[in-house]
Amino acid sequence: MKKYGVLLIGAGHIGLEHLMDIYYREDVRVIAVADSDAERAREAALRSGAACFGTDYRPFLLRDDVDIVIIATYTRSHLSILRDCLAAGKHVLCEKPIAVSLDEGRELVRLVKNAKTKVLIAHILRHNASYKKIKELISEGKIGKPTLLRMTQNHHALNWERYLRLMEDCSPVVDCGVHYFDIAEWLTGEKITEVSGFGTRTQPDAPRDNYALVNFKMSDGCSGYYEVGWGETLRSANEKEFIGTEGRITLEMRDRRMQDTEEGDLITVYTKDGRKYEVLNLPTVYKNMYAQLEVLIDMIETGAPGEPTIDDVWRAFSVANAAVQSIEDRRPVSVDEFISKQ
Ligand SMILES: NC(=O)c1ccc[n+]([C@@H]2O[C@H](COP(=O)([O-])OP(=O)(O)OC[C@H]3O[C@@H](n4cnc5c(N)ncnc54)[C@H](O)[C@@H]3O)[C@@H](O)[C@H]2O)c1
Repeated sequence: MKKYGVLLIGAGHIGLEHLMDIYYREDVRVIAVADSDAERAREAALRSGAACFGTDYRPFLLRDDVDIVIIATYTRSHLSILRDCLAAGKHVLCEKPIAVSLDEGRELVRLVKNAKTKVLIAHILRHNASYKKIKELISEGKIGKPTLLRMTQNHHALNWERYLRLMEDCSPVVDCGVHYFDIAEWLTGEKITEVSGFGTRTQPDAPRDNYALVNFKMSDGCSGYYEVGWGETLRSANEKEFIGTEGRITLEMRDRRMQDTEEGDLITVYTKDGRKYEVLNLPTVYKNMYAQLEVLIDMIETGAPGEPTIDDVWRAFSVANAAVQSIEDRRPVSVDEFISKQ
């Protein structure tokens, strides 16, 4: 079995989540960690057994034993770092969102499509067992035709400094929304055609709206909403419900459960016919970083398409940016018109 040499760039919140889930795996060896903060790089290298660390990632790109680079830095730097990695002939797992503007995002997609190596964008929910199960249930017709998608993802931002840094680069509607606009299209196989949102600041030090509610319409008439909030006074709320003509699927995270005796998240399927409830308690790792990396390794070894593909990523990114435009203009925005006008 080949052992893939990994370089992590950005050893912050999500960088460490990547590292801690992959460093001990049979087919992975962490070679180096780079972070602009020298102490963070040193500590992460120590924790993952990496022999090399530093504040500049570029010398590590020259190493032959680095096969894969994980980019987990601020969004504003994804494009330039990805460009350097591809020029050095490395495969890349790059955090979402891809960029801070539609133009930069388009350039990143162009680079990925022309690359000789493989690039996977980290849409982690695609690798989550609960969401995979929900996709399977919807495809089997368990709830009939999906008609309404309700998705709330609010964070009680205890580490407010980190959220302030994230909001310097983009709105939470883009940062977090790319996951959920992608999920809506992935679960239903339909496209989001129109978005309409409003946003507000719940605290004055937020550099932009830290709360938003986005309604969307899909190509087959299905509707939905995505609610996102990051704030020190907001309550954590992580509720997802997918409603169809024949039933509904509810996904509750483990902190909402009466008894937290299993690792899993709780899926409840209600079927109208017979008024039946079915409860699935799946062993689910919320952020399955290793499963995600395995998808990239599969792309390298077999040429499999990404999960999601770069076209799916572009789609979710475009919808999220259209939603921000809709909030700014206070009017509904057609996603296709928005993309073609840019
Ligand atoms: N997939 C997910 O679920 C998820 C969750 C959180 C964050 N993210 C994304 O991951 C990225 C990082 O977010 P975070 O919350 O981990 O931020 P963070 O502030 O916790 O960490 C970012 C780290 O990158 C380092 N860094 C920045 N620029 C660098 C550079 N040029 N070279 C080397 N190091 C550099 C910083 O010093 C910091 O340690 C963002 O794009 C964010 O949207 C994804």
